[in-house]
Amino acid sequence: MTSPRPAAVIILAAGEGTRMRSAIPKVLHAICGRTLLGHAIAAARATQPAHLVVVVRHQRDLVAAHVEQLDPAIRIADQDAVKGTGRAAECGLEVLPPDLAGTILVTYGDVPLLTGETLEGLLARHTADGSAVTVLTGEAPDPTGYGRIVRDDSGAVTAIVEHKDCTPQELGITEINSGIYAFEAAVLRDCLARVGTDNAQNEKYLTDVLALARAGGGLVSAYQIDDLSQTEGVNDRVQLATLGAILNRRQNEMWMRAGVTIVDPATTWIDVDVTLGTDVTIEPGTQLLGATSVGAGAIIGPEVTIRDSEIGVDAQVRRAEVVLAVVGAGASVGPYSYLRPGTELGPNSKIGGFVETKNARIGAGARVPHLTYCGDATIGEGANIGAGTIFANYDGVTKSHTTIGKYSFVGSDTVIVAPVTVADGAYVAAGSALVRDVAPGEIAVARGRQRNVRGWVARARAGT
Ligand code: UD1
Ligand code: CA
Repeated sequence: MTSPRPAAVIILAAGEGTRMRSAIPKVLHAICGRTLLGHAIAAARATQPAHLVVVVRHQRDLVAAHVEQLDPAIRIADQDAVKGTGRAAECGLEVLPPDLAGTILVTYGDVPLLTGETLEGLLARHTADGSAVTVLTGEAPDPTGYGRIVRDDSGAVTAIVEHKDCTPQELGITEINSGIYAFEAAVLRDCLARVGTDNAQNEKYLTDVLALARAGGGLVSAYQIDDLSQTEGVNDRVQLATLGAILNRRQNEMWMRAGVTIVDPATTWIDVDVTLGTDVTIEPGTQLLGATSVGAGAIIGPEVTIRDSEIGVDAQVRRAEVVLAVVGAGASVGPYSYLRPGTELGPNSKIGGFVETKNARIGAGARVPHLTYCGDATIGEGANIGAGTIFANYDGVTKSHTTIGKYSFVGSDTVIVAPVTVADGAYVAAGSALVRDVAPGEIAVARGRQRNVRGWVARARAGT
């Protein structure tokens, strides 16, 4: 059976979100590496709607620019000065074909945990029942603030009443309106045209469509879900963190079921766009962010942050910060190292402790084991860079490149003043300050020659 597709999804995102106390629009705050609006759009897209609309007003330009960046095919609808979810939906309709038929889903831009499956379930129920309106509902232990689902004696939904408009008896209802609905397009259009603003908040309520649809002879149904977190909105930063943790747990559980070992899910943060191979092990205190991918069998952590990077199969990264870097298969990094943008580690190479790299290509099996700054460099396969080597890439004006040949050896405590090329198999003596190229077969010794002065202690430090 192919699941039905909606004619459109309208995402309401025009509200102010004042409780965030933020210069950034609420729906542009992010959890698990995706904005709240990005999550709402991802869920909407999963239903494959013919049209996708986001309704904006507050900080309109910032929100619209973000939508445009996510998907230029999404239509932006501007809500005018008339307030309320009903007016927002009506403004959404205005950018759709006026005779659009079929089902329109309405969701919120600040409800990030709603899944595409739930929207598909709502749509499937709506279609199967032949309803005019189907509202997504849940049983809330504390329904304060929510619209209540009013049913008649037969259990049929008759209306939604806003908390502020409830009678004392209606306040006792615990079935709440999630704010997510499936509407027949014609019903939504006709009823919204008749909704007024005569209520406690003087707003045009989308919820009023239900009673009107029913009065017009349409079937109004509820689709109840158990997982209330899916319908929870973010109003302040406390809820942002709470929903972020729930989403993170959901992601972690998905990866564990897919064959990833996560030693401590509570301290492991995996953004939604990250991909992990089988038998990856993640130790405590690890953040995998952005478009990061980790190959099968790799061991990441403890205490690692990796952003927008590619980690090869069977690699190991411990106590490190990795940004826009590639770590080859079987390579090992850390503890306490920092791989900056443009770092590319070849297979089985090694970056040890207290090493910083930037724009550096490090060949297969090459080793940078201790206390090094390696910026703007190419290091050949099998080379060894001694402890405390500094690639001096910056002369105060320009940055220059260093090339270290294959299987060459740089002694400890060397400063390489770029640009310098060390040939394949060549050597650099420990403690050198290298300013010229080193040819094949050579060793460069660029330091003061050692002089031992016999009898000096007795002469100059008698009695010590
Ligand atoms: C709404 C519902 C309520 C439901 C609750 C669930 C109405 C009248 N009430 O209440 O029954 O239980 O959601 O969270 O619909 N928005 C706009 N333009 C506006 C107003 C709101 O786009 O003029 C957007 C907001 O950005 C937000 C969503 O609609 O994403 C909900 O708005 P909000 O003010 O939170 O609705 P509630 O009053 O909480
Ligand atoms: Ca709300």
